[in-house]
Order: sequence, then structure tokens, then C-alpha cells
Amino acid sequence: MAPYAFFHKQFVPLSEAKIGVLTHALHYGTACFEGIRGNWDSRQKRFCLFRLQDHYERMIGGCRILKIDLPYSVDKLCHLTGQLVEKSGYEEDVYIRPLAYKSSEALGVRLHNLEDDFFIIVTTLPPYLDADNGVRCCISSWRRVDDTMIPPRGKICGSYVNSALAKTEALDNGFDEAILLTQDGHVSEGSGENIFLVLEGKLITPPGSDNILVGVTRDTVMKLAKNELELDTIERQVDRSELYVADECFFTGTAANVTPILEIDHRPIGTGKIGKVTAKLQKLFAEVMVGRNPKYPEWYHLVSPRVTRT
Ligand SMILES: Cc1ncc(COP(=O)(O)O)c(C=O)c1O
Repeated sequence: MAPYAFFHKQFVPLSEAKIGVLTHALHYGTACFEGIRGNWDSRQKRFCLFRLQDHYERMIGGCRILKIDLPYSVDKLCHLTGQLVEKSGYEEDVYIRPLAYKSSEALGVRLHNLEDDFFIIVTTLPPYLDADNGVRCCISSWRRVDDTMIPPRGKICGSYVNSALAKTEALDNGFDEAILLTQDGHVSEGSGENIFLVLEGKLITPPGSDNILVGVTRDTVMKLAKNELELDTIERQVDRSELYVADECFFTGTAANVTPILEIDHRPIGTGKIGKVTAKLQKLFAEVMVGRNPKYPEWYHLVSPRVTRT
């Protein structure tokens, strides 16, 4: 059973969803996307598409920034995504990638006088970072792209060159992930994750104005910390050296879930092992992402696959 794509306003086998070499977005990065988890619950035989609506609301913001006309409501986008997952027949965790783009086959750098299009694909989800055992990071020599350059609060394709430069440099130098600073030297985020630290009993994370993608997982963790652990999160500028002296650090993201950071720039964070707050948040997050905590029904879009694979 081959997976499907929603492409040119219809469901087609993924192998038939192709774009031309002159497509504007391919040349200039004029597109925005989302990454959404479809978590497979083998007990209930269903997917939990986690915070689907929130992902599409963020994507609509990205489309506004790029002047992309997305002719669907959030409800319709959620419905189409559910249908796609159902049709594709997977019975394992999936990653859903909607992408809105400047689709004209035309050269010339601009946002105006171009057609727009939209597709959704669904694929499997191999582990991205070692969330179980934690990761070793470096501060990147690259700086985070600024809101005055390519707004990071929209998940804009072109700006991911910034993340790719940082990620590959980190891996080339023997680390698992990069942490990027802003132009003025404050902590921004990982190449594809938001960052939190626990310092003097407080949970701290950089604010939206420090060029982060304002993550859905970040928001989930802030709400879980408050509701379940009675721990407020302080959103404030963070110095690089605060990471070195923190008791705990972790990443959050759709691909990364809650990933402990054990070491930064060859300095162990806290004890160098997974911290207590991080471990509690990992456990709470693992429950909600499959739709098992009944306190958060608005976060779950449940889908049962129509086709059972043999
Ligand atoms: C640059 C960047 N920051 C943060 C995140 C985490 O955001 P979310 O939790 O919405 O996946 C992502 C992943 O989408 C990302 O690409």
C-alpha cells in the first residue's frame, strides 16, 4: 500500500506528486511549512494528530508573511490531514508535512504576481535526536536569522538554510545538535528545537522576540509545567553562560519531543545526567502526545486508519 499526498487539490499516490524545476519556491525558498506528529497508539489502533489546529494556525501566519493565499480554513486543513492519514494506511508514528508555496514556474525574486499552491505529505518518523539518553551540543558559529531578515516566527523554507548550516557544522565537529545565538549574543534556539533551562528552581526559555520559532511543543511543555508541576516558565533573554551554569537544559520540538541536553561546549550541564524536571516533563509529554491524558482533549485530533496493512 503506497502512501498518498494531497496535491493539486486532490488525493494522489505520493509517487505522482511532482513539481517542475522552474517552480518559484524551489529557487527562492518562497514557501512555508509545518511538521506535525501523528502518534500511533497501538493499543487503541488510532493516531493522535497532536495539536493539529495550532500547527495550521501558525502556518496561516507564515502564509500572511509570504503573501501566500491559502484557500482553506483551519478546520478544512485539519479535515484534509485526517483524511490523508486515514487513506495512507500507516500503523506507526507518522510525520505530516503541509507546505504552502509560490508555485508559478517563473524566475524573478519577489512575492507578488505569482500563483500559490499547497500540498500535504505524510511519511514515517524515525527518531530525530536521542530523546531517551540525551544529547551533546555546541554553540554554533552561525547566528540565528533575525526577524528583520527572514521572520523566524513563520516556518519559512528559505530560512532553514540557517538551521542546516548550524546542524551540519555541529555534526562535523562531533556534537549532536547546535544552539544558535541571536545577533546580539543571546540564546535563541536549536537548529530545529526550542530550548529551556532550569536555573535556581526556575524554568526559563528565550522569548518570541529572540528569533525563535514559537514552538507548539514549547507551549505544551509550558502548560504541562504549570498545570501538572506548578512550575511557571519565565520567558526572558538568556545569556550563553547561563546555559553552562544551569542545573538542567532540554530541547522541545515536534521531531525532538523533550530531549535532555547533557553537555554544551564540553561542559556537563548540572550533574551531566537527565535532570528531575526534564524527566518529569518527558513523562508528561509522552502521555499527552498519544492523546492519553483526558485533561487536554483540545490537543488531540484522533484518526483511525481505514486500511489495515498485512
Ligand atoms: C527552528 C525550529 N525551532 C523550534 C521548533 C519546534 O517547534 P514545534 O514544537 O512547533 O515543532 C522547530 C520545529 O518545528 C524548528 O524548526
